[in-house]
Amino acid sequence: MNIGIIGAGSMGSGIAQVAATAGEEVMVFDTNATAIEKAGASLNKVFTRLVEKQKYTQQEADDILGRISFVDSMELLENSDLVIEAIIENLEIKQTVFSKLETIVSDKCILASNTSSLSIASISSACKHPERVIGIHFFNPAPLMKLVEIIPSITTSHSVTQLSKQTIDSWKKVTALVKDTPGFIVNRVARPFYGEALRIYEEGIADFATIDAAMKEIGGFRMGPFELMDYIGNDVNYTVTETVFTSFYFDPRYKPSFTQKRFSEAGLLGRKTGKGFYEYSENASRPKPSEDEELKRHIFDRILAMLINEAADAVFWQVASAEDIDLAMRFGTNYPKGLLAWCDEIGANKPLSLLENLYQTYGEDRYRPSSLLRKMAKENASFF
Ligand SMILES: NC(=O)c1ccc[n+]([C@@H]2O[C@H](COP(=O)([O-])OP(=O)(O)OC[C@H]3O[C@@H](n4cnc5c(N)ncnc54)[C@H](O)[C@@H]3O)[C@@H](O)[C@H]2O)c1
Repeated sequence: MNIGIIGAGSMGSGIAQVAATAGEEVMVFDTNATAIEKAGASLNKVFTRLVEKQKYTQQEADDILGRISFVDSMELLENSDLVIEAIIENLEIKQTVFSKLETIVSDKCILASNTSSLSIASISSACKHPERVIGIHFFNPAPLMKLVEIIPSITTSHSVTQLSKQTIDSWKKVTALVKDTPGFIVNRVARPFYGEALRIYEEGIADFATIDAAMKEIGGFRMGPFELMDYIGNDVNYTVTETVFTSFYFDPRYKPSFTQKRFSEAGLLGRKTGKGFYEYSENASRPKPSEDEELKRHIFDRILAMLINEAADAVFWQVASAEDIDLAMRFGTNYPKGLLAWCDEIGANKPLSLLENLYQTYGEDRYRPSSLLRKMAKENASFF
């Protein structure tokens, strides 16, 4: 297949690497010559390292790199079978790009966006043939993260959805089919991992290190919420939460945190600035978590219940199937288990009664249990 990619930034060049590694011919277009230069140099560096690590022979690396070309004119994408757009997250600019692209490529070409926060419907509305527009959402870094969300909009044709899924599956990715709704699966279902952790901190129940330790030691998560927010960047993570919150008409479940906003405003963004919830200088010491096992169990149970509720609610609203939601959380965020499989393991009654307690204690809509979770508990049913 001929794959076109628009945008040679971190996502565009990562997607180019994935596609070319899978044997596709890839053409990457960017308006910025410096971005093209940087992407080319960084791909060369990546493959030099992969050859050193003996993941590829020099010949294989040369062949993969030989399949990627960089161009400075969109017209050169004319022979593409699939174009994936990964430019700046701005609706008007994306719409302009899509309506121009449509005049360049053949009628059969699929037009995909890698957007994280815009609706596919709003992007496709700029096209004469919205039935061939779809969301193909990779995670960062694209070569390492296995998950790709496939997002047909209400106007996308069934055949475009099928072909997009088949193509990305053939690139050895795990695909999850998801409705064109805010945050898709991962950026929606993962919100309580950060939000409830921040809330527990803000209430003074525990410090960052103890909350992180609870999730890692008891839950087996690779990183605690505060470590992960520092890794993602407090600015980026805050913006995703705020966007999801706004898109859900201010549902209190997604309410952003002042703590994270202040960290972000103060430039304490995390690893990239050397300081966030933790320090990242060479000699920095890590605060010790509490050894209160009961406290840590309470923290873990509360965050897990919120996560399970979010996953169950996404099934309830038919955002995606239970299978795809669990796949998405395992491969898009590296959770140790799927949240719905986790619910089956502990029984729906446990998170339900925890949420009912929180709801009673705080009287806040944030803690309302999903009606599907209630139903599952009542019927003693399981997701799988
Ligand atoms: N970074 C992430 O973690 C991540 C994850 C998933 C999805 N996304 C989405 O992927 C997209 C790209 O994100 P990124 O982080 O790679 O951005 P980036 O800033 O690294 O790269 C964007 C590139 O697009 C180019 N560009 C801008 N306008 C253009 C135009 N009109 N035509 C051609 N090229 C143009 C820029 O020169 C730049 O090189 C966004 O929609 C973002 O929401 C990002």
